[in-house]
Amino acid sequence: MPGIVVVGAQWGDEGKGKVTDLLAHRVDAVVRYQGGNNAGHTVVVKGEEYKLHLIPSGILYPHILCIIANGVVVNLEVLLKEMDDLSKRGIDVSTIRLSGNAHLIMPYHLILDSMAEYHLGKARIGTTHKGIGPAYADKASRVGLRVQDMLDWKIFELKLEQTLKFKNEILTRIYDQPPLDSQEIMDKYQGYAQRLKEYIVDTTVLINDLLDRNRKVIFEGAQGTMLDLDHGTYPFVTSSSPVSGGVCVGAGISPSRIDEVIGIVKAYTTRVGEGPFPTELTDETGKIMREVGREYGTTTGRERRCGWYDSLIVQYAAVLNGFTSLALTKLDVLSQFDQLKICVGYEHENKIYRQFPPHQTIIHKGRPLYETLPGWRKDISHVRNYAELSPEAKAYVARIEELAEVPVDIISVGPNRNQTIMVEGRFKSYISGLYA
Ligand code: GDP
Ligand code: IMO
Ligand code: MG
Repeated sequence: MPGIVVVGAQWGDEGKGKVTDLLAHRVDAVVRYQGGNNAGHTVVVKGEEYKLHLIPSGILYPHILCIIANGVVVNLEVLLKEMDDLSKRGIDVSTIRLSGNAHLIMPYHLILDSMAEYHLGKARIGTTHKGIGPAYADKASRVGLRVQDMLDWKIFELKLEQTLKFKNEILTRIYDQPPLDSQEIMDKYQGYAQRLKEYIVDTTVLINDLLDRNRKVIFEGAQGTMLDLDHGTYPFVTSSSPVSGGVCVGAGISPSRIDEVIGIVKAYTTRVGEGPFPTELTDETGKIMREVGREYGTTTGRERRCGWYDSLIVQYAAVLNGFTSLALTKLDVLSQFDQLKICVGYEHENKIYRQFPPHQTIIHKGRPLYETLPGWRKDISHVRNYAELSPEAKAYVARIEELAEVPVDIISVGPNRNQTIMVEGRFKSYISGLYA
């Protein structure tokens, strides 16, 4: 059962990095299949914190191939810095592999991202300004530059000249910005290529070969289901497909290769950037969640908006992704509250919705309907066995399972690798051997 997908069920930052790292010690490869350095995945091992943006969260183990597949958009400067920073901390980065088919985030993509946001004004998406949208737009428009173009400078130069001519028109005439110089860009990218060429491979062949040999591969999603370009709260989404279906396109594997899909679910809900968020709390409760949960963006440092757990979106994510397990994270943060709320419906214009509604207006304007559960009000960050959780915490977990119709197989009670409860007896086969 080698193909395992780790995917965020909410609006990102659910703890995908922690769970991927946790499961990675018994796998052979971790693959990023979409997104770019808009992602910020935190792994904490023995109190040491690592913030990963492009490099898969398996990098802390020396035996794991860390593959950046074709579906990712890559900022090479960021990748090299991340590699250098990890190397300085004694981490071996020679296990990284980069797809020749991955698209490059170019300097103009960063400027165009910021300019588009600026001109949208109040209607802005609240992007990370990392050039993600413009890079994927160029990919779809078939004017993107790919990693493999750096292996043939004639092609790279030709494509760059063609694209830059048009981009400079936009930069100068529409956005009143200075034009970019193609020679400067060429020089920069030749330097990057010099350092990265040994890492560039056909990752599709590599991944399929690993799976053929029954090696375990984790496909690590970035962002979350509600930020999916097709299925999320459009236009307040990212420009790629984090859902499990995105793995097939973004890594070049067949759907039949996917055996397990782990939905990473925060015990409450957060969102960075603009867009609808039915259970958002702008009061003291939301503030406590932010402070205790340290809910500040890993990539941009922005405050994350916080709110109660929304079962409708997780239910929706379960259907879209085909979750076989849930990993419930940050349960420890809820120890702060006497009472906990779970959203079980939205009310809009005298109609009650028990499932994720078909029209976005309802998500924008709907009033969340809550169930109230008792809190446990004690520190659970040291708990390692399910049996030791208080009855109230167990009841909260059970309600989440019931509403999502997916078993919670992993519970996280702190950022450290070991602050984890592997729920015994309910593990899928590949998990059960991992932490014996
Ligand atoms: P990702 O983008 O899904 O990988 O999540 P982020 O790393 O952006 O955000 C999750 C944050 O919560 C990080 O700072 C983690 O170290 C932290 N974290 C993960 N799991 C837990 C947990 O169970 N409890 C607490 N208190 N923090 C956690
Ligand atoms: P991880 O992988 C949370 C959000 C941005 C913005 C929207 C579009 O750490 O969970 P983009 O720069 O992608 O065009 O921004 O998506 N966003 C994230 N929010 N976690 C992330 O990644 C995110 N990546 C993008 O805040 O609302
Ligand atoms: Mg994050």
